[in-house]
Amino acid sequence: MAQSLYERLGGEAGLRAIASEAVDAHRANPIIGPRFKATDVATVKERAFEFFAAGSGGPQAYTGLSMPDAHSGMNIDEREFVATCDDVLAVLQARGIDAATQGEVLGIFFALKPQVLHQ
Ligand code: HEM
Repeated sequence: MAQSLYERLGGEAGLRAIASEAVDAHRANPIIGPRFKATDVATVKERAFEFFAAGSGGPQAYTGLSMPDAHSGMNIDEREFVATCDDVLAVLQARGIDAATQGEVLGIFFALKPQVLHQ
């Protein structure tokens, strides 16, 4: 049977590392870094891990806010959205995740875009 997206991303250990590295990249990214100044880094990493684990076939439950609620009042724009995708793709590439799997993750980001932008 084909491996789930969760398995292809490295299961719990892989996804924890991806979430942690992606949040670090966002904080260092001049386009979106300021958005993360006031956030609790450990909590955002944990929620990001849960979100992608739950959404990719893992056994974890997501305990965070809905996407509109998590980004409410931020009025995030297209440029910030692209910066976020760039960071995540760079992390996946650096970890040797194959191109088809990278594309699947990007597809999930774009499917969620209307729930994240301009909230
Ligand atoms: C489809 C793309 C995105 C997904 C799947 C996503 C996912 C998440 C998740 C799961 C959380 C945690 C929510 C919680 O704590 O309950 C979160 C928080 C956050 N996101 Fe996003 N996000 C996306 C795009 C963006 C973009 C483009 C920005 C712009 C910079 C952004 C900025 C933030 C910030 C600043 C927080 C932390 C808010 C806080 O301190 O509580 N996100 N996001």
